[in-house]
Amino acid sequence: MLYSLLRPALFSLDPEDAHGFTLAGLDIAHRIGLLNLLPRATGKPVYVMGIDFPNAVGLAAGLDKDGAHINALAALGFGFIEIGTVTPRPQPGNPKPRMFRLPAAEAIINRMGFNNLGIENLVRNVQASGLKGVLGINIGKNKDTPNEQAVDDYLACLDTVYAHASYVTVNISSPNTQNLRELQKDDALDALLSAIKLRQSDLAQQHGKYVPIALKIAPDLDDAQVAAIAALLMMHRIDAVIATNTTIARDAVAGLPNAEEAGGLSGAPVRAASTRVVRALARHLKNEVPIIGVGGILSGDDAQEKIAAGASLVQLYTGLIYRGPALVRECVQQLA
Ligand code: FNR
Repeated sequence: MLYSLLRPALFSLDPEDAHGFTLAGLDIAHRIGLLNLLPRATGKPVYVMGIDFPNAVGLAAGLDKDGAHINALAALGFGFIEIGTVTPRPQPGNPKPRMFRLPAAEAIINRMGFNNLGIENLVRNVQASGLKGVLGINIGKNKDTPNEQAVDDYLACLDTVYAHASYVTVNISSPNTQNLRELQKDDALDALLSAIKLRQSDLAQQHGKYVPIALKIAPDLDDAQVAAIAALLMMHRIDAVIATNTTIARDAVAGLPNAEEAGGLSGAPVRAASTRVVRALARHLKNEVPIIGVGGILSGDDAQEKIAAGASLVQLYTGLIYRGPALVRECVQQLA
C-alpha cells in the first residue's frame, strides 16, 4: 500500500539513484523500528543444503552487493538474504547509466558489471551486521582477471568469506563481465568445480564447519547445456544450483523503450525462461542437488510456479522494484 504511493516518485528518478535512495530510506526505517511494524506472514520452514530456512523466499544477489544493508533487508521478512556479487578487489563497474526500467514489461535491464568495494569490505559489513539469519555470499571474478585465472579469484573469495557465510554462491552467469559465461562450458566448469570442491573440503577441516556451495547459472542455455551442467553438479557434489541470472534475450521486450540497451534483462520477461531451466534441471538432477528458482517472480503464483517446476527455495529482485515489500509477504504466504 505505502509502496504504491512511493513508487511514482521513485520511478521519476534515475533507476540507480532510486536504488540508492530506497536502500538509504530502508536503513533509516529499520533503525527507527518502522520495519517491525510491517505485517508479517508466518512462513513454512524448509531444510535445504543442511540449513534451516525460516521460509523459502530469499533476496537475490545484486541488490546489496557489498552487504551494507543486511539487517534492513532481512527485516522485510525474507527467509534468507544473498549479498554480492563481490570480487577479490574493489572495482567501479561499468560507466553510468547502467540500469534501465522497462515499466510496460515489468522489467529491468542492467549492465552494472560487478561494481563493489571488494571482499574485505563485505566481510567487515557482515561482521558489523551481526545477522542471525541465513546469509548467502555471492562471489565473482574481477573484470581484469583473465578467464584462465578466474579460479584464483573464486578461491580467494571463498577463503575470505567461508567463515562468515551460511552458503556461498559461485556466480558464472552475469552477462556483464566479458566472457564470464564461458565458465559454464564443460571443461572450464569441470576445472572450476573441482578446484572449489577441493578448497571447500580444506576449509571445512580448517574451520570445523561445512559451508555449502551453490552454482548460479544463466537462463540462456539449451537443454543439452543444462544436462551437461547438471551432470557436473552431481559429479562434483555441488550443494545447490541457482537458476537463473538475467537473460541476454530481447524477444519478450522487442520494440519497447530501452529494450536495446546492452546488459541482462530481469523481471517478468525472464520468468518463463528461468522456469524452463528449473524444470530441465529438476529432470536431470533427480533430487540429488536442490534448486533455488529465481527470475521474474512478481506474485505468489510466480513463486509457486518455480516450486512446482522443482525448486526448493526461491529468490526475488526485480519484483521488489515493481511490487515493493508486500511481494515478500505474498510469496511467503503462498508457499506456507
Ligand atoms: C542482478 N542480478 C545479479 N545476480 C548475481 O548473481 N550477481 C549480481 O551482482 C547481480 N546483480 C544484479 C543487478 C541488478 C540491477 C539486477 C536487476 C539483477 C540478477 C538477480 O540476482 C536475478 O538472478 C535476476 O535478476 C532474475 O531475477 P528477478 O530480478 O527477475 O527476480
